[in-house]
Amino acid sequence: MKRQYITTPIYYVNARPHLGHAYTTIVADALNRFAALTGKQTFFLTGTDEHGDKIVKAAQAAGQTPGEYCDAISAAYQSLWPKLGVAPSAFIRTTDPAHALTVKAALQKVHDAGDIYFGEYGGHYCFGCERFYTEKELQGGVCPDHQTKPEYIAEKNYFFKMSKYQDRLARHIRENPDFIRPAQYRSEVLSILDSGVLEDLCISRPKSRLTWGIELPFDAGYVTYVWFDALLNYVSALGWPDGKNFADFWPSAQHLVAKDILKPHAIFWPTMLMALGLPLYNHLNVHGYWLSRDTKMSKSVGNVVDPEAMAEKYGLAGLRYFLLREMTFGSDASFSEQSLTARFNADLANDLGNLLSRTLTMVHKYCGGAVPAAGEPEAEERAIIELASDALENFHALFGALQFSRALESLWELIRALNKYIDAQAPWTLFKEGRTAKLGLALYTVLEAARKAVVHLVPVMPEAAGAMLVQLGFGPLPKDYDLTDEIGSWGFLPAGASVAASSNQFPRIDATPGAMPEKPAKTAKPCPAAPAPAPCPAPSPAAAQTPAQPATETEGCPEIEFADFQRLDLRVGTVVAAAKVAGADKLLEVLIDIGEGSPRTVVAGIAEFHDPDALVGRQVAMLANLKPRKLRGVVSRGMILAVRREGGLELLSPANPVPSGAKIS
Ligand code: MSP
Repeated sequence: MKRQYITTPIYYVNARPHLGHAYTTIVADALNRFAALTGKQTFFLTGTDEHGDKIVKAAQAAGQTPGEYCDAISAAYQSLWPKLGVAPSAFIRTTDPAHALTVKAALQKVHDAGDIYFGEYGGHYCFGCERFYTEKELQGGVCPDHQTKPEYIAEKNYFFKMSKYQDRLARHIRENPDFIRPAQYRSEVLSILDSGVLEDLCISRPKSRLTWGIELPFDAGYVTYVWFDALLNYVSALGWPDGKNFADFWPSAQHLVAKDILKPHAIFWPTMLMALGLPLYNHLNVHGYWLSRDTKMSKSVGNVVDPEAMAEKYGLAGLRYFLLREMTFGSDASFSEQSLTARFNADLANDLGNLLSRTLTMVHKYCGGAVPAAGEPEAEERAIIELASDALENFHALFGALQFSRALESLWELIRALNKYIDAQAPWTLFKEGRTAKLGLALYTVLEAARKAVVHLVPVMPEAAGAMLVQLGFGPLPKDYDLTDEIGSWGFLPAGASVAASSNQFPRIDATPGAMPEKPAKTAKPCPAAPAPAPCPAPSPAAAQTPAQPATETEGCPEIEFADFQRLDLRVGTVVAAAKVAGADKLLEVLIDIGEGSPRTVVAGIAEFHDPDALVGRQVAMLANLKPRKLRGVVSRGMILAVRREGGLELLSPANPVPSGAKIS
């Protein structure tokens, strides 16, 4: 039986959880779910780190005893995880009595082996990091992480002979290239190990200075150093030394941390394991920082983002998708609500949400709401089947290698190709022409390929992906489902299954002018700023913000300069999707490709005369630089040009197809 044991850091309880903690834990959860869905037996551990100076200080500041204080913050962590869709197998607290016993047993074992000695030490102690720094490690005399001047402390203490294991560790890292990954962190650790003799690790604190810790089993005058205590959580949670979980899961262990705690995990921990005579973990996976306002998100800087508030505001699926899609694992990434909104609207609302809603609507309209028979794939369908297989194969390779962003991008290549396939096949035309076999084939192809993509979103957005699978007629995922079966296969979606009448999984998020995407959509040729809206009706009445007006009303408009005309960005766009705006009889939300990469949303007052499905693929003239305006909760960015005639509304289109985005001049 293949297994996977994955851990997050156990978080200090001196502050409430923020988005940085949420990121590591969501990544661990996604990896855990992915492993379980690829046939592995899994164990996923998280928890809280509760001993040490800074916890005592935080408790004092809160007017509580350390015990009361730890209970409160640890509970905040425990109750946060389900709200973020995180389902660990166990939650460990370093104040758990069983953990204290394990730490004492480990200390005794290392002491008995002769790897702990008593000595005098003076060093620069950073209370934020809870560790001594060497002169060399300080930057300009301050702690590189906290930017504070450490305190010089000299006292008698116990030391772990870390230096004894230096060469063995360096050899292990060289012989196992993915022991520490990505590679930049492996190099960083090797350069520490190669740059001189490793100092032994001070592993005790005299009780005269600190009592909030686990007492040394061989000297009641001391408690153990918080890192020696904390790192052992990874084995104590498995019941080391005799626990069955330890025997089953330790051989498949991998840790997830950010780069702030690279050294304890890459040097202290493996040398401790060597001293205990235990095998080393398989992988240390190290990610970068989430920055907020260009600085590492942290409580002391005061720039933290509350993950629960973000999940409430943008939905859990949107938040988890954004975190995994936006950060390249190993590098830093910036968090802002603008970039979250932009990513949500482009990938989830426009690409995936739109694919689902238009497909389900068509299955209801043309096939009575039931999955049509698969049919015999033709060249276009074979291309989709091949693309799906490649996309999934890439997804599996990349996700397992922690390249979440690229893994998701490969799924989105498939999702975007399906939207294009619909445009090209034009099921509405197939229906009108009575080509039922091809219509069924096209809709089955889209449903099945969309299902294959969505099933791979289960580790990323478990609840939303589960709901989409039900909407697509596949039903909830069976417990022992194996995603690897999806590669190179086709046709798991049963014909005849009922699909939902519609899907409203990812309604667009309003990007109010103050919160528009940071990267504004690029236009082919930049235009000067738009003038203030003309006091006369627009040339056509199609956009909802301008009620339909007869053409003759333009007679009263004053003449304008050529320069005024030049300020109008008039273009031909291709409709990629259209749907009725809920609760508004006359309005359609139309997605129009004008060659910007992702389509524009335009809300147009044309619903009375135009069927949304029939518009897809049609080219229309539009004013592209009209100021964005919110209509019925949807931000409209442009105006479709049309002419009113009796009993109808003619949309202006070129007589022959032109490239999407072609300028009208
Ligand atoms: N208690 C120790 C870990 C002991 S593990 C045996 C500790 N705790 S912590 O509360 O400071 O958590 C640090 C971890 O939180 C980072 O390694 C990372 O997983 C997460 N993050 C905290 N801030 C972060 C960012 N700004 N960005 C990304 N991750 C962040 O260190």
